[in-house]
Amino acid sequence: MNTTIYQYNFPTTIRFGAGSSKELGDYLIAQDLHRPLLVTDAQVAQLGFFKAIIQDLQNKHLSVKVFSDIHKNPVKSDVYRGTDLFDEEQRDSIVGIGGGAAIDVARAITLRVHHRDDLFKYDDLIGGDVYVTREVPHFVTIPTTSGTGSEVGRSAIIADDETHQKKILFSPKLLAKIVFADPLLTMELPPAITAATGMDALTHNMEAYLAKMPHPICEGIALEGMSLISKSIVNAVNHPDLESRSQMLVASMMGAIAFQKGLGVVHSLAHPLSSLLDTHHGLANAVNIPYGMEFNYEGYEGKFKKMSQALGLKEGSGREVIDYLFEVNSKINIPHRLREIGVKDEHIETLADLAIADFAHPNNPKPVSRQNFKELYQKAF
Ligand SMILES: NC(=O)c1ccc[n+]([C@@H]2O[C@H](COP(=O)([O-])OP(=O)(O)OC[C@H]3O[C@@H](n4cnc5c(N)ncnc54)[C@H](O)[C@@H]3O)[C@@H](O)[C@H]2O)c1
Ligand SMILES: [Fe+2]
Repeated sequence: MNTTIYQYNFPTTIRFGAGSSKELGDYLIAQDLHRPLLVTDAQVAQLGFFKAIIQDLQNKHLSVKVFSDIHKNPVKSDVYRGTDLFDEEQRDSIVGIGGGAAIDVARAITLRVHHRDDLFKYDDLIGGDVYVTREVPHFVTIPTTSGTGSEVGRSAIIADDETHQKKILFSPKLLAKIVFADPLLTMELPPAITAATGMDALTHNMEAYLAKMPHPICEGIALEGMSLISKSIVNAVNHPDLESRSQMLVASMMGAIAFQKGLGVVHSLAHPLSSLLDTHHGLANAVNIPYGMEFNYEGYEGKFKKMSQALGLKEGSGREVIDYLFEVNSKINIPHRLREIGVKDEHIETLADLAIADFAHPNNPKPVSRQNFKELYQKAF
């Protein structure tokens, strides 16, 4: 008899649908919150929908401050500056609006407001979550990409300013109180970002499905997430309409819900590219996923067969999942080779060192050695 007890967590209230972001003002007022700090990035801050959200909040007599001075791969000093603004401007709540980067910074500021030790003391990988003991400000998320699913997550990925090593800040307290998931906000996402973030979402669903931890609930969610992505990703990139963009948004949240089960080799191949070369997280996953899945195939043929069926592939044979990944990358203009995204031969040893130290691969269904990482990078080079 298996006596292990597993913990399954499911997220918060999600208001999903076209126009749901317009509910933000009334929601804040109903919570007696009148001074939100809106955290975003510098590009999103310039977009029409963002300005419309601010206008709407101001029309409802809310005091709005925007913090958007963040790095593409966010660093600790971004979080410190945002927290200073929260204090100086006497804010009462935090709204993260944007892609994974902006939402992660918003979540980390939410942590730091009442937890003032060095931010990386709370690093989950060194058991830092136990120090998250005090309350946090009211936290709301509004995703504008369909990729990381950070809006339904409980962690923030923040890098060290000098070493660029990514740390994970985690606590159940960091779950948003409510998510306004409005596919209309993703309609203007350019094709390259839609492609890269969409492949991140596919990677989450596939890696979560394969990850070691037994979790049938997440496996069901992950299979349906893959199915939605296979039906919508090419249209969402090349012929966007509300239906394809809506399906990508819900599937990205499904990926993030599923990956409480764990991720795997592909994320460990991808993270070093962001720390060393500042590669976008989704693009790094997209290029690596066919190679990482090929590595995982042997011994997991049954699960690959189920993935093949979920992806709607002709034979349902398992191995064709790997061909599908190359094909979908071609259709959405993702390169097949690392050398096409700036990796040089001389980077491979350092990348392998970083990959073996990464947090994702211990949940991969089969063990991955440093030599395996080096060979995978060489294969993808
Ligand atoms: N917390 C988590 O669980 C988790 C998981 C995976 C990744 N991450 C982190 O998320 C980050 C990546 O997030 P991402 O893939 O969403 O990318 P991103 O947040 O970096 O956004 C990508 C680009 O898209 C632009 N953009 C965003 N929304 C837009 C819109 N609606 N229209 C036009 N442009 C828009 C942004 O300005 C940015 O230039 C990384 O920092 C990664 O470490 C977090
Ligand atoms: Fe990811």
